[in-house]
Amino acid sequence: MMGRTLSIIKPDATTRNITGKVNTMIEDAGLKIIAQKLIRLTPSQAEEFYSEHKDKAFFTSLIDFMTSAPVVVQVLEGEDAVTRYRKIMGATNPAVAEEGTIRKTYALSIDKNTVHGSDSQESAKREVSFFFSETEICE
Ligand code: CMP
Repeated sequence: MMGRTLSIIKPDATTRNITGKVNTMIEDAGLKIIAQKLIRLTPSQAEEFYSEHKDKAFFTSLIDFMTSAPVVVQVLEGEDAVTRYRKIMGATNPAVAEEGTIRKTYALSIDKNTVHGSDSQESAKREVSFFFSETEICE
Protein backbone atom coordinates (compact mmCIF):
# COMPACT_ATOMS: atom_id res chain seq x y z
CA MET A 1 0.00 0.00 0.00
CA MET A 2 1.31 3.48 -0.91
CA GLY A 3 1.96 5.53 2.17
CA ARG A 4 3.79 8.50 3.63
CA THR A 5 6.35 8.93 6.36
CA LEU A 6 8.01 11.93 8.00
CA SER A 7 11.79 12.14 7.77
CA ILE A 8 14.14 14.57 9.50
CA ILE A 9 17.72 14.98 8.34
CA LYS A 10 19.35 15.98 11.62
CA PRO A 11 21.89 18.71 12.58
CA ASP A 12 24.88 16.34 12.35
CA ALA A 13 24.10 15.96 8.62
CA THR A 14 23.26 19.60 7.82
CA THR A 15 26.47 20.78 9.54
CA ARG A 16 28.55 18.23 7.60
CA ASN A 17 26.86 19.31 4.32
CA ILE A 18 25.70 15.78 3.49
CA THR A 19 21.92 16.27 3.10
CA GLY A 20 22.22 15.59 -0.64
CA LYS A 21 24.02 12.30 0.05
CA VAL A 22 21.21 11.27 2.44
CA ASN A 23 18.60 12.25 -0.16
CA THR A 24 20.41 10.13 -2.75
CA MET A 25 20.16 7.08 -0.47
CA ILE A 26 16.44 7.79 0.07
CA GLU A 27 15.80 8.14 -3.67
CA ASP A 28 17.95 5.16 -4.62
CA ALA A 29 15.79 3.07 -2.27
CA GLY A 30 12.69 4.04 -4.27
CA LEU A 31 11.14 6.52 -1.86
CA LYS A 32 9.94 9.81 -3.37
CA ILE A 33 10.47 13.16 -1.61
CA ILE A 34 7.05 14.84 -1.97
CA ALA A 35 7.71 17.76 0.42
CA GLN A 36 10.89 19.21 1.91
CA LYS A 37 12.09 22.25 3.83
CA LEU A 38 15.16 23.41 5.73
CA ILE A 39 14.17 24.84 9.11
CA ARG A 40 15.65 25.69 12.49
CA LEU A 41 13.58 24.01 15.24
CA THR A 42 12.76 26.10 18.30
CA PRO A 43 13.13 24.40 21.71
CA SER A 44 9.34 24.36 22.19
CA GLN A 45 8.78 22.81 18.74
CA ALA A 46 11.40 20.13 19.43
CA GLU A 47 9.91 19.41 22.89
CA GLU A 48 6.43 19.03 21.43
CA PHE A 49 7.61 16.88 18.51
CA TYR A 50 9.53 14.53 20.84
CA SER A 51 7.02 14.70 23.74
CA GLU A 52 6.79 10.88 23.95
CA HIS A 53 10.42 10.91 25.17
CA LYS A 54 9.98 13.67 27.80
CA ASP A 55 10.66 11.34 30.74
CA LYS A 56 13.74 9.73 29.21
CA ALA A 57 17.24 10.48 30.50
CA PHE A 58 18.34 11.60 27.02
CA PHE A 59 15.48 14.13 26.51
CA THR A 60 17.43 17.33 27.35
CA SER A 61 20.41 16.38 25.21
CA LEU A 62 18.04 15.35 22.38
CA ILE A 63 16.36 18.78 22.43
CA ASP A 64 19.72 20.59 22.67
CA PHE A 65 21.05 18.65 19.70
CA MET A 66 17.94 18.98 17.51
CA THR A 67 17.95 22.77 18.00
CA SER A 68 21.72 23.20 17.55
CA ALA A 69 21.59 23.72 13.77
CA PRO A 70 19.05 23.56 10.93
CA VAL A 71 17.28 20.32 10.02
CA VAL A 72 15.64 19.18 6.79
CA VAL A 73 12.07 17.98 7.33
CA GLN A 74 10.58 15.97 4.51
CA VAL A 75 7.64 13.80 3.55
CA LEU A 76 8.52 10.55 1.80
CA GLU A 77 6.06 8.56 -0.25
CA GLY A 78 6.27 4.95 -1.35
CA GLU A 79 5.10 1.40 -0.92
CA ASP A 80 4.97 0.74 2.87
CA ALA A 81 6.82 4.04 3.39
CA VAL A 82 7.06 3.84 7.22
CA THR A 83 8.62 0.37 7.40
CA ARG A 84 10.65 0.84 4.22
CA TYR A 85 12.24 4.04 5.49
CA ARG A 86 13.02 2.48 8.89
CA LYS A 87 14.82 -0.33 7.07
CA ILE A 88 16.86 2.13 4.97
CA MET A 89 17.71 4.23 8.07
CA GLY A 90 19.03 1.25 10.05
CA ALA A 91 19.07 0.82 13.83
CA THR A 92 18.89 3.89 16.10
CA ASN A 93 22.37 3.07 17.40
CA PRO A 94 24.71 3.18 14.37
CA ALA A 95 27.05 0.72 16.13
CA VAL A 96 24.49 -2.02 15.45
CA ALA A 97 23.03 -0.70 12.17
CA GLU A 98 23.23 -2.94 9.10
CA GLU A 99 25.72 -2.29 6.28
CA GLY A 100 24.28 -0.11 3.53
CA THR A 101 21.87 1.77 5.80
CA ILE A 102 21.93 5.56 6.19
CA ARG A 103 22.94 5.36 9.86
CA LYS A 104 25.67 2.77 9.27
CA THR A 105 27.04 4.96 6.47
CA TYR A 106 26.77 8.43 8.04
CA ALA A 107 25.72 8.42 11.73
CA LEU A 108 28.28 9.44 14.37
CA SER A 109 26.54 8.17 17.54
CA ILE A 110 23.11 7.25 18.96
CA ASP A 111 22.42 10.99 19.38
CA LYS A 112 24.04 12.23 16.18
CA ASN A 113 22.32 9.54 14.13
CA THR A 114 21.70 11.59 10.96
CA VAL A 115 18.00 10.83 10.40
CA HIS A 116 14.65 10.39 12.11
CA GLY A 117 11.74 8.45 10.62
CA SER A 118 8.19 7.93 11.91
CA ASP A 119 7.81 4.64 13.79
CA SER A 120 4.18 3.81 12.87
CA GLN A 121 1.35 4.90 10.56
CA GLU A 122 -0.21 6.83 13.44
CA SER A 123 2.98 8.73 14.25
CA ALA A 124 3.57 9.36 10.52
CA LYS A 125 0.18 11.04 10.29
CA ARG A 126 0.88 13.18 13.37
CA GLU A 127 4.46 14.00 12.37
CA VAL A 128 3.65 14.91 8.74
CA SER A 129 0.92 17.32 9.85
CA PHE A 130 3.22 18.69 12.58
CA PHE A 131 5.44 20.21 9.87
CA PHE A 132 3.37 20.37 6.68
CA SER A 133 -0.04 21.52 5.52
CA GLU A 134 -1.62 19.46 2.69
CA THR A 135 -1.00 22.30 0.22
CA GLU A 136 2.78 22.01 0.81
CA ILE A 137 2.81 18.33 -0.18
CA CYS A 138 3.26 17.62 -3.91
CA GLU A 139 2.11 14.25 -5.24
P1 CMP B 1 14.94 9.52 16.80
O1 CMP B 1 14.39 8.52 15.82
O2 CMP B 1 15.06 10.90 16.31
O3 CMP B 1 14.02 9.51 18.12
C1 CMP B 1 14.51 9.91 19.38
C2 CMP B 1 16.00 10.07 19.38
O4 CMP B 1 16.60 10.07 20.65
C3 CMP B 1 16.63 8.92 18.66
O5 CMP B 1 16.37 9.02 17.27
C4 CMP B 1 18.09 9.04 19.10
O6 CMP B 1 18.85 9.86 18.24
C5 CMP B 1 17.99 9.73 20.46
N1 CMP B 1 18.47 8.88 21.56
C6 CMP B 1 19.47 9.18 22.39
N2 CMP B 1 19.66 8.19 23.28
C7 CMP B 1 18.75 7.22 22.99
C8 CMP B 1 18.46 5.96 23.56
N3 CMP B 1 19.12 5.46 24.60
N4 CMP B 1 17.45 5.23 22.99
C9 CMP B 1 16.74 5.72 21.94
N5 CMP B 1 16.99 6.93 21.36
C10 CMP B 1 17.99 7.67 21.88
